[in-house]
Amino acid sequence: MTVDLVLGPRPEEPGPPIGGRASYPPDVEQRLAADAATVIARYPQPRSALLPLLHLVQSEDGRLTTAGIRFCAAQLGLADAEVAAVATFYSMYRRTPTGDYLVGVCTNTLCAVMGGDAILEALETELAVSAGETTGDGRITLEHIECNAACDYAPVIMVNWEFFDNQTPSSARQLVADIRAGQRPQATRGGQVCPFRETARTLAGLPGEAGADGGGPGAATLAGLRVAHELGMAPALPDRETP
Ligand code: FES
Repeated sequence: MTVDLVLGPRPEEPGPPIGGRASYPPDVEQRLAADAATVIARYPQPRSALLPLLHLVQSEDGRLTTAGIRFCAAQLGLADAEVAAVATFYSMYRRTPTGDYLVGVCTNTLCAVMGGDAILEALETELAVSAGETTGDGRITLEHIECNAACDYAPVIMVNWEFFDNQTPSSARQLVADIRAGQRPQATRGGQVCPFRETARTLAGLPGEAGADGGGPGAATLAGLRVAHELGMAPALPDRETP
């Protein structure tokens, strides 16, 4: 039996899978091509640079556009369809316009039971948008996100993919209020978070304004390791006799 699945945009990200402008002005194309050459030179095969190049065009448009897809394909010797197939697999590549700050509320199981659902509901009310929408001032795009492996700090919010740990509806409302007031939010375990397009440029591997540095693991993440050390536990060594 054959089962056909209709693939399209994520439910909370309405609109065509890829849209927007169809080409870049010559000066933009030239600037992007210079950046792309820097990225491509780091890889033995040009096509290996596709993911950072998608971040590069996202830093230009705040989303993926037809122009961005065509640009990546031309730079890497790929078909537009090959680029689109990769781009639409990853949720970090956005198909609709994105605000200065992408605020993602984790509503996966652990965060949900710890209050993630209530936080998302509070922010939808506070911002007067539904998940997937952008505020009228273009400052914030709200979305729900899946588990980002920060369950030990549940419930978490990610702003431009930097963690804000142990949130509550109240702290989340304050976070978005500060962003809308023009502040750059301070990640819990890192520095200040820069706007979405600058973050995308950093993810492309290009120099830009310094953003949050990730901050490394926190105490909750290292708790198991600390207990293991206190108990004198050591990892099992591989059995050299086993073929
Ligand atoms: S469930 Fe939210 S980070 Fe894992």
